[in-house]
Amino acid sequence: MKKQSKKLLAWEIRDYVRTISWFALHTAIFVLSFVAILYINSGFSFSKIIDHVQNGSNVNNLIYLVIAMCLVSVGIYLYFYNENRDFLFKTKNINMIFLLLEISVAINYGVGKYMVYARPFAICALLSLLLMDKRRAIFMNTVACFLMFMIDAFLSIDVMEGHLLYSSLLIGFSTSILAVYLVHGMSSRLKVFLMGFAISVPIIICTVCLEFSAIVASPVIFIVAGFTSGMLSVVLLMAILPVFEKIFNRVTTYRLSEITDHKAPLLKQLREVAPGTFNHSLVVSTLAESCATAIGEDPLLARACAYYHDIGKIENPEYFTENQSGYNPHGEITPELSVDIIRSHATYGAKLIRKHRLPQILSDVALQHHGTLHIRYFYMQASKFSEEALDLKDFSYKGPRPRTKIAAIIMLADACEAKARSLTDRSHESVDLAVKEIIEERMDFDQFYECDITMKDLDIIRKTLTNSLAGVHHDRVEYPKLKIGGNKYE
Ligand SMILES: [Fe+2]
Ligand SMILES: [Fe+2]
Repeated sequence: MKKQSKKLLAWEIRDYVRTISWFALHTAIFVLSFVAILYINSGFSFSKIIDHVQNGSNVNNLIYLVIAMCLVSVGIYLYFYNENRDFLFKTKNINMIFLLLEISVAINYGVGKYMVYARPFAICALLSLLLMDKRRAIFMNTVACFLMFMIDAFLSIDVMEGHLLYSSLLIGFSTSILAVYLVHGMSSRLKVFLMGFAISVPIIICTVCLEFSAIVASPVIFIVAGFTSGMLSVVLLMAILPVFEKIFNRVTTYRLSEITDHKAPLLKQLREVAPGTFNHSLVVSTLAESCATAIGEDPLLARACAYYHDIGKIENPEYFTENQSGYNPHGEITPELSVDIIRSHATYGAKLIRKHRLPQILSDVALQHHGTLHIRYFYMQASKFSEEALDLKDFSYKGPRPRTKIAAIIMLADACEAKARSLTDRSHESVDLAVKEIIEERMDFDQFYECDITMKDLDIIRKTLTNSLAGVHHDRVEYPKLKIGGNKYE
């Protein structure tokens, strides 16, 4: 198997120009927003701004601020370029990074106008966590805290009193990282909401450390401010997250829960139009979840991909075995037409998923779950009626081959579920042999050539699929027939 680099997209000069241009644009937006903040801080008075700027040291501060903002942008670019280049490649991701920072800074600044310690310090970290991952959330939080500190330090017309100036750096940095670890892995919105109380505790402790003498005089204000900060972080998170999910089409735990609900429009349609495919997808989802857990992938994502992998069968459901009950329409059409209908379920499924604005990974998996495999049965049928040698490509799925571990899992779970259904002997040994044959066949046809799945992963998947299928498709126990009062019960 080819060792794949994590950076699959090839960058050309124009991609560098495009990404850097977007960074420059967002840097300019930040600089303009600094001007707006200065205007607000001056009490909307240009003369006060002019007085402020005429002071030599303030001019220097403003120049430092612009240079610092440019350096922050360079830092963000270098971080994402080196850590996750494919992520940076997409313009919408660049916009998302900056929009997260812009919104977080705006909210923190707005709340800070009334009470600095009530700022929702953790908002950027939590949004980044749920829209990206833990690592990037910690990085984004660092940037957001630094930006807030720069605004507090360089754009305040009146010097901030006490230790307020350091609140973003000290409270924001430390408590937000704690919030990331607390909220990480939580699948319920209610639990995240309750975490607001937990986040408040370290904020109050940090506030006590910073403002000890003031707290002795009026402790209630600071305790209320700490709780406001924690609760505001989670409330705003819940309000803003769905907007980001929709605009940037991001896959979050909550989004996955929503789209795997059986009442979701496409799933509801699949259940009504193609009940056989719907049941098949449910079994595949159970298998895929187990495999994903076993090799350290996201089980909820695997479940969602399994639910939607055959969604294209909504069109022409009667042409697929699992929806047939006796009558097979393929008997009335040519093998070539049959192949067209069969393989179109992958492309049509991907199209349908995109049309419903579901996460891209679902459409990728729908497209990739049969890779470039042959539809052997119809190739053999067509060969019977043709004197010339047929091109196997005309009887194959168009691919692409699986490009992620999740897509590879769905490919295997899908094939193994169908195979296990056709087995007459469903003993552990027989199922194991069938699973092994399916994996080896796909390896022989280079189906895992484009994804970074390892031999170890495949071995774990084989064992998991065997254990699950031998459990699901166990032989039915023959119950003795009962005869009670002339009625026969089975
Ligand atoms: Fe399929
Ligand atoms: Fe399938």
